[in-house]
Amino acid sequence: MAVMIVCICHRVSDRDIARAARQGCASFDELQEQLRVGTACGACGDCARDTFDAERGGTSCAAAAGTWIAMQFAPKSAPQAAAA
Ligand code: FES
Repeated sequence: MAVMIVCICHRVSDRDIARAARQGCASFDELQEQLRVGTACGACGDCARDTFDAERGGTSCAAAAGTWIAMQFAPKSAPQAAAA
């Protein structure tokens, strides 16, 4: 399985988050203390939290990350046609 970098600012991957969850990280706040994920620009916060929650819930973290990627790169809207 490919590794996805969740937090670019602190170079934290989905595997880092999964490992922390497996090793007993009890909350997202604790995850932030350990890995600093989401503590700089904050852009990764939702993805990091979803990945952490999915891992703690026993669901594949890759599924959460894949959903996040799909949302980030989905077309926002069709371009408006120029008025003639
Ligand atoms: S991308 Fe994670 S804090 Fe900026």
